[in-house]
Amino acid sequence: MSKILVTGGAGFIGSNFVHYLLDNTDHEVTVLDALTYAGNKASLENLPSNRFNFVHGDIRDAELVDQLFSKHDTVVHYAAESHNDNSLDNPRPFLETNIIGTYTLLEAARKFDTRLHHISTDEVYGDLELDDPERFSESTPYNPSSPYSSTKAGSDLLVRAWVRSFGVRATISNCSNNYGPYQHVEKFIPRQITNVIRGIRPKLYGAGENVRDWIHADDHSNAVMTIVDKGVIGETYLIGADGEKNNKEVVELILTTMGQPADAYDHVTDRAGHDLRYAIDSTKLRTELGWKPSHADFESGIASTIEWYKNNEAWWAPTKDATEAFYASKGH
Ligand code: NAD
Ligand code: DAU
Repeated sequence: MSKILVTGGAGFIGSNFVHYLLDNTDHEVTVLDALTYAGNKASLENLPSNRFNFVHGDIRDAELVDQLFSKHDTVVHYAAESHNDNSLDNPRPFLETNIIGTYTLLEAARKFDTRLHHISTDEVYGDLELDDPERFSESTPYNPSSPYSSTKAGSDLLVRAWVRSFGVRATISNCSNNYGPYQHVEKFIPRQITNVIRGIRPKLYGAGENVRDWIHADDHSNAVMTIVDKGVIGETYLIGADGEKNNKEVVELILTTMGQPADAYDHVTDRAGHDLRYAIDSTKLRTELGWKPSHADFESGIASTIEWYKNNEAWWAPTKDATEAFYASKGH
């Protein structure tokens, strides 16, 4: 049993990871989260108080970070500004949290020789053509497109430099698009599900041909724990579940699963610089560490995610109107 600190554990993927850890391991878990607009303590309700502790604070607060690193064996770093559309509107918080925040954690990992796993994204590799036979792999050159993805790329490079220059015991994973419970309604899948629940037509950016490589958040959690347990220090692992779908297909699946006509959506203004396609080759993680996804069926994963949003309106309703007002102001 060890003591694991999870940064950003009140966000979407971090909270799924905390539930995964408490359900499937005997580790003690502390969450450090600033509770920005994206953090929600309601995602961490009813957890065992003898193994779970919540600290409200900022990853840029070096004094607090030092205190917490001195008391934990392992840190899994999810905290970030995570939404591309917000990064196009106001990039500054992305530099602060994704770059300065990660730097602050790296300095603490160096001081206390703490094992650190850094969570990152496939967006650091830029995008692919629709017909490109190659997918992203660990050797794909970095080529980020947005303020969000460039700050995530910067944070990855800081981790690599701290491993090489200071011997920090870190690993990195770059994962594809996640879906599942506890995802903020600003993101594509929950936005459309909650739109349909509210009687609003789903909104597709541009023609809807952009492809994302979907993975269930539980499979991401399982992959991260595999890397924490068996990953080689200094290595990067790509996480993906062979889930490529274009946005039009996803909207149509949501609509038909919710009993609506498949074409009951609107096309809206496209995202500036919109990446066309992401696709992950996760051979390294599968062959070297023996990981494989268990949520292979996207249709049933979407159906259970729809059920979750139907049953948890109190969780998402407080943020829905402000999110839609922001999108309306941008023509989305
Ligand atoms: P999210 O926006 O849902 O959650 C981010 C969390 O970080 C929130 O709880 C927020 O309060 C917290 N946070 C933000 N700034 C902070 C700060 N300065 N100090 C402490 N806490 C802070 O994000 P998510 O979608 O769960 O993404 C989590 C991580 O996974 C990010 O690093 C993201 O880049 C990465 N990632 C996400 C996806 C995806 O599909 N969502 C895919 C691959 C990688
Ligand atoms: O690939 C991993 C990344 O996936 C993570 O690093 C990011 O944190 C995460 O937000 C996600 O980024 P995307 O930009 O791919 O996700 P988003 O949910 O914003 O959009 C998914 C796709 O859907 C994208 O092509 C834009 C499109 N879209 C989005 C919204 C919100 C729409 O067509 N309509 C919408 O209303």
